[in-house]
Amino acid sequence: MDFSSFDVHNYPTLSVTEGYKEWVNTYEETVQDEMDIRLLSRITTVEWATIQSAVDLACGTGRTGNWLKQQGVKNIDGIDLTPEMLDVARKKQVYRHLVVGDILNTGFGTENYQLTTLVLADEHLEDLLPLYKEAWRLTRSGGNFVIVGYHPHFLMNGIITHFHRQDGEPVAIQSYVHLLSAHFKAAQRSGWRLIEMDEGVVDNEWLAKKPNWVKYANHPVSFSMVWHTDSQI
Ligand SMILES: C[S@@+](CC[C@H](N)C(=O)[O-])C[C@H]1O[C@@H](n2cnc3c(N)ncnc32)[C@H](O)[C@@H]1O
Repeated sequence: MDFSSFDVHNYPTLSVTEGYKEWVNTYEETVQDEMDIRLLSRITTVEWATIQSAVDLACGTGRTGNWLKQQGVKNIDGIDLTPEMLDVARKKQVYRHLVVGDILNTGFGTENYQLTTLVLADEHLEDLLPLYKEAWRLTRSGGNFVIVGYHPHFLMNGIITHFHRQDGEPVAIQSYVHLLSAHFKAAQRSGWRLIEMDEGVVDNEWLAKKPNWVKYANHPVSFSMVWHTDSQI
């Protein structure tokens, strides 16, 4: 779904590469771990330490790769459209290969990975089906696709992915709205089976860091899904 029907702020909107090129300098200060890392930490169906090969789609500055490495994941490849985000990721030295490219057409080998991840990027894709199909192609039988996303509830309340320029001006990055059921339909059409799902809300932990979000207390702000290749496990 197009975001425009939910837009109440009408911030100037940049493309993904223009937006993240500008946001990169303050990105890690603004995106807090309560958004995504805490949902990754709650996942119980993935044995991270047994994973020899993973690909982190839309890896950005490498926050997810860093966390995966800490859990014992061995070889992690990353891909992202924005070279400036990858420059930050490279400095973390947690990725085996880092590639500038589109996650819908990675060029990585078929069934190369035991684990595929996508964190906080699905809202930038117009259509989810090519994502789930590419993740399916990349992931080995018996493997998982872990997706963590910005909750559509917030987008539907008019809060698009955005950042603030140095002078305080808010700037949006081109985004689309995907219902959680749209994830299920696209994933199922690609062969995936859902084995775990969770949602993160604006809770006390969140408000301790961002007290001005109090008007969103208890609203769902992010979601996680773990998809599995096999029809039975
Ligand atoms: C909010 S950041 C998330 C980065 C990282 N996964 C994290 O959790 O911090 C979104 C990232 O998605 C990337 N991105 C968006 N659409 C993409 C696409 N089609 N192919 C590759 N990267 C994409 C952007 O360049 C940006 O680095």
